[in-house]
Amino acid sequence: MKPILKIKKLLFIKDYYLLSSILFFSVCSMFMDIFSIGILVPLFANLDKNIAFENEFLNNILDFFSFEIFSDIKYLSIIIISIFVAKNIVYLTGRYLEAKFCYTFFTRLSKNFFSFYLFKNYSFHINNNSAKLIRDITFESNVLSYNFMQPLISSLAECISLIVILTFLFLLNPIATVSILGFLIFIALTFNLISKKYLNKLGKQRQLHSGLALKELQQSFSNLREIIIYKAQNFFVEKYDLHNSTNANTGFKSKFIYSIPRSILEISVISAIIFLIFIMLSAKTSFTEIVLTLSIYVLSASRMMPAITKIFANITTFMYTQKALNVVNDDFLNFYRKNNVSKTKKFEFSKISLKNLSFKYPTSKNKIVNNINLDLKNNDKIGILGPSGSGKSTLINIMSGLIHDYKGRILINNKKIKNKNGLLNLNLGYVPQNSLTIDESIEENIRLGRPKIKRQMYNKILKTVELQKLNKRFSYNSNKSIGERGAKISGGQNQRVGIARALYNQPSVLILDEALNAIDTKTKNKILSNIFKLYSNKLIIIISHSKDDLKNCNKIFSINNGKVARIKY
Ligand SMILES: Nc1ncnc2c1ncn2[C@@H]1O[C@H](COP(=O)(O)OP(=O)(O)OP(=O)(O)O)[C@@H](O)[C@H]1O
Ligand SMILES: [Mg+2]
Repeated sequence: MKPILKIKKLLFIKDYYLLSSILFFSVCSMFMDIFSIGILVPLFANLDKNIAFENEFLNNILDFFSFEIFSDIKYLSIIIISIFVAKNIVYLTGRYLEAKFCYTFFTRLSKNFFSFYLFKNYSFHINNNSAKLIRDITFESNVLSYNFMQPLISSLAECISLIVILTFLFLLNPIATVSILGFLIFIALTFNLISKKYLNKLGKQRQLHSGLALKELQQSFSNLREIIIYKAQNFFVEKYDLHNSTNANTGFKSKFIYSIPRSILEISVISAIIFLIFIMLSAKTSFTEIVLTLSIYVLSASRMMPAITKIFANITTFMYTQKALNVVNDDFLNFYRKNNVSKTKKFEFSKISLKNLSFKYPTSKNKIVNNINLDLKNNDKIGILGPSGSGKSTLINIMSGLIHDYKGRILINNKKIKNKNGLLNLNLGYVPQNSLTIDESIEENIRLGRPKIKRQMYNKILKTVELQKLNKRFSYNSNKSIGERGAKISGGQNQRVGIARALYNQPSVLILDEALNAIDTKTKNKILSNIFKLYSNKLIIIISHSKDDLKNCNKIFSINNGKVARIKY
């Protein structure tokens, strides 16, 4: 999709209102600019009462200002100051709206990226490094808002200013103005031609290396203990520095490139003005008229120069940041415009059947789940055994609706499920092997944003997993958090928080994937017996390397090389 089409799709009606008002203020500020330049004519006429302009356009301006009030220098001074004040108020309002537009655009884009990626299925996340996603949510959204949209808006505003000033100058001196315009277009085209490819390459490098730098930061902070023990700090620092400096290097080069046109322009403007003085001197123009014409040109140039420099800088920035638009794909745009997150209604079930279930990861050679057939009733207690790497967690991930691209069928109450969301359509409690923690209180870790349940029920859950004391220590009210990745609690406590989180759902299916292996045998047995009592009429699936954990199960299966065999009837 073309960049301009993508940008159009990122904008909503209210954005267009805001954009129109920004442009409106720019036009107003521009006309006031022209007026403030034009008012110099009566000012000069007041200074030299005997003036008679050769230039017809100057005489016309003088006629325009031929009111009594403009011939009194006191009034004229007040008018000039007032015009400049008003002009700047209008200008600042335009800039305020522009900043507001970019801020709104950024927050919306960033929020949508975050939500888009969070709602993606698990398979997507297996195949995409989170650093790249974080880069899109933070850096790329920022770049698109402040280094792409903002220059685009200000370029539009500056173009309008240029057109107005050039029209004014054209009326004053058509030949000189057309030459200026031709010269500007020539510089713009040459500059564009020379730098386009290079800036595009820099933009690509920026995007790649900013993501990789972020990846190094993330990997290192999440593996701190091993890094300290194996003294791997420098390994990570060097890798980070490599990507960060390459990224910064692209920024430095692009910044330098966009300073070049400014210097070329400045030299050209000065040369043009000196050239103009010679022409006017040779034409024997009066001194006042020379000074006035020069003042108008210098003032116009001083207004045009920043505008032109800005447009040139913006062209550079566009070329440098255009790659950021690549992250805005059709899929994202669809989500962005509709924001439709479908909610499935949970329902009760009596039987779950897996029919010829097979699956292989895109990068794995053999089938990880190999033609599995299973029937599970709503009050079964299922135990699953099997060597490490045999496919137990993969099977559970398919059943839980985390992996979608499997072959075969999952039936609930003998009906094929419509979406591939597996047991997510039911009330599911799932404790993965490495349970998640957030840097919040125990209660918030258990709730994970779900609606509050009755206190009595919550306390019952705490009791089931023996977490009452810990809940008090890191309580919600005292606002004590358990540390990043649960650094302030033990591994076993962390696992118990994970189980409590699953129980909070009051699940009809509870899956525990090696969820208690960090807990001492006595506590583990107590928790398991509590769970079996509390969920005696629910489906429980326990994966464990310890047969002892499965002693209360009515069916036990073993998984080997993705194939399932029943070992207890
Ligand atoms: N994203 C992936 N891409 C490719 N292969 C994968 C991926 N995830 C897991 N595997 C492979 O699939 C196989 C089964 O993994 P799985 O996690 O299901 O094993 P498991 O039976 O749960 O083992 P454990 O008892 O150690 O937890 C392993 O060989 C593993 O290397
Ligand atoms: Mg596993």
